[in-house]
Formats: sequence, C-alpha cells, structure tokens
Amino acid sequence: MVRVNENYLKIQASYLFTEIAHRVKAHQDANPGAKIIRLGIGDVTEPLAPAVIAALHRAVDDEAARETFRGYGPEQGYAFLREAVAKNDFQDRGIDVAADEVFISDGAKCDCGNIQELFDADVKIAVTDPVYPVYVDTNVMAGRTGTSSDGRYSGLVYLSCSAANGFVPSPADLPEPVDVVYLCYPNNPTGATATKEQLQAWVDWANAKKALILFDAAYEAFIRTPGIPHSIYECANARSCAIEFRSYSKTAGFTGIRCGYTVVPKGLVAWKADGTPVELRPFWTRRQTTKFNGCSYITQRGAEAVYSPEGAAQTKATIDFYLENARLVKDALSKLGYDVTGGTDSPYLWVNVKGDSWEFFDKLLKEANVVTTPGAGFGRAGEGFIRISAFNSRENVLEAIGRLSSVLA
Ligand SMILES: Cc1ncc(COP(=O)(O)O)c(C=O)c1O
Repeated sequence: MVRVNENYLKIQASYLFTEIAHRVKAHQDANPGAKIIRLGIGDVTEPLAPAVIAALHRAVDDEAARETFRGYGPEQGYAFLREAVAKNDFQDRGIDVAADEVFISDGAKCDCGNIQELFDADVKIAVTDPVYPVYVDTNVMAGRTGTSSDGRYSGLVYLSCSAANGFVPSPADLPEPVDVVYLCYPNNPTGATATKEQLQAWVDWANAKKALILFDAAYEAFIRTPGIPHSIYECANARSCAIEFRSYSKTAGFTGIRCGYTVVPKGLVAWKADGTPVELRPFWTRRQTTKFNGCSYITQRGAEAVYSPEGAAQTKATIDFYLENARLVKDALSKLGYDVTGGTDSPYLWVNVKGDSWEFFDKLLKEANVVTTPGAGFGRAGEGFIRISAFNSRENVLEAIGRLSSVLA
C-alpha cells in the first residue's frame, strides 16, 4: 500500500486564489458585459526591457552555432551571471557577497520553498502574519506543523504584523524560542519596508541565538527611499546568520521567463545535534546539483542584460511606472479616508478597510468590477485589510481609481 504524505492534506492556502477566481468567474458569468480590472494577483503586465529581449535573441542564436552552443550548464548558474549579480547587486553597493556565494535559479518561490530541506525536521520556524504562503506551506508539506485551525498551523510561530508595529515585528515579539525566521522586505502582502535598525535587531538576535534568517528581497528593486536596506547583508554580521533570496520576476518582468537567485555566504553554518557546526553553502550546492536542472542559458543571458547600462535604465523605468501606479492608487484611497501602508517602496498597497476583508472584496468586485486580494487570505492578522497590486496599465489603473472613488465616496 502506497502511503501518501499526509502533510499535504493539511494545506489550506490554495483556498485564497481559488476562491478569488471562483468569485470573479461567478460575477463575470452573471455580468457578461462587465469590464473587470484585476488588481489582485501580483503578476507584472509590462513587456520586458528591449535590452533583455536583444540579449535573449542573441542567446538563441548562440544555440544555433556549434562554436557557441551550450548544453547542460552549471546548476549553480553561469559565471557570467553570478559575477554580474555579485558586482552589481552587492559589491557596487559596498556589500560583501562573492560570485561563488550566488546560486542562480528559476525564481525565488522555488528557493524559498526548497531551502527548508537543509534543516532538521524539528527546527522551530517563525513566520510573519500576514505572510507569503510559500514559507508556511513548504514547512507544512515537510511535516514541521500540526493541522491548521482558524488560519494558523500548530507548531509554527506567528509574528503578527499590524499598524501598531508598523507591520515589522521585532525579535521581542517572539512568544517562544525559534531557530529559523522568514522575513520579507519590502513585504508581500503589506508593502511595508524595514529600516536598517529593525533588520539589525533580527541579525543580532539570530547571531546570539544560533538562529537563521531567511530573507526574501524579491521586491528590493522597488525601494526608492534612501536608507532603506536593499539587502540583509547591509547589516553588520548578517553573513553569519542569513540567506537572501532575490528574483528577476518583479525587478525585470521575468515572471514568464523565470529567473532568480539565492545568496548563501561562505562560513554560514547550522549545527549537528552534537553541536558541531556544518556549513550550509555546500549543502545548498549539493541540493541544487542533485535536484535542480539549472536555469537555461538563454534565460541567464537575459538576466545578465538587466545589468547592462541600457537594461538597468529600462528596467528602472518600468518599476518607476508601477510605482507611479501605486502612488496614484494610494493618493486616491488616502483622500477617501483609508489608511494605506506600502505603495511607496513596493508595488503593493495594504488597505485598512475598517471591516471584513471578504465583504470588502465582494463590494469592490460587484460594485466597481475591480479585483483585489482579501487580506484575510494571507493570515489571521490580514483580516480587515485588502491588498491592491500596482501591476497594471496606466489606463486600467486610472479607470479603477475612478470606479473606486465613486463606490467608496
Ligand atoms: C515575497 C515573494 N517571494 C517570492 C516570490 C516568487 O518569486 P519568483 O517569481 O521569482 O518565483 C514572490 C512572488 O510573488 C513573492 O511575492
């Protein structure tokens, strides 16, 4: 008898986007003429930068000639991209990250999800609430939790984020000792950013407790306010307690192309039961070379082009465009009297709707034909909020603002 991994039966989270899709479809079926504007799921809408497209074309041509053809590549990524990452994303900003500490992948979701394989089944995990569901679900699948009740799994530690803590918890908020904490700034879903002092407090805590920070910087490129850290490694001593995830998805519109990377510093350790330290970088190398096929040569050439002068300027212009969308929506909602977090260094707005998340979602869907994401879907502490994403055309964003203004006035 083949026994299933019963941990999968505990998973609750797919409910969110399935339920949204279900409600949107029902509304569209009942109102076939309605032009629905989707400000829900965080997928990009603008085409890739011309410099990236040109690089992708060149890479396709490389595959057409014997001299430049590439077959199996290194699972950790090609040196040309690892070096471009280390230089542009870190060293040029004065951050100590070397090319051989960068692991190229097909995106941050896989890496955020797979990293937990490196740790013992009994490590205690902390996540924020609300949370990007991948951190939670992958630990549920791995058997690190009990079942879920009222939106929370037993065995996981939740750090509630609210206006009271500026949506950034501190180590003092931990109700019990933990070994691993997932942090994501700029945050999905709240759009909140963390200051250097706030991140340094987590780094100091992790170093003192022999704990590990899994830092998701997927939205780093949206940071415009000076002083907000782009990387956890801007904090002193973070190399000895943190792994960082990055993604070209929102940075450069690669949600369809697929590319990201993870930084595992040399010297970063976890411990054996007998207290012997074990380096994590060789573990991640082993994990990736065994289970991951690598990101395609063509894709990596496209990602490399993000760092060319033209590519950098073009991708920045696209992010500026989304940030302007966010600013427009934020201004409109603020004028309507809503408290809005995010939207300045993030593509997400976290709107306090002063009521039930799903009821507000339904109101906007039915009365404005605008799709948002109910905050409750990201965790118990998300109740009372909706997430609005700035990924859309200007035309749609302006149209949505007009509709929201008349429905909520
Ligand atoms: C916080 C966060 N991390 C990671 C990801 C996944 O990124 P990728 O497309 O690189 O897998 C997302 C995507 O929405 C995200 O919101």
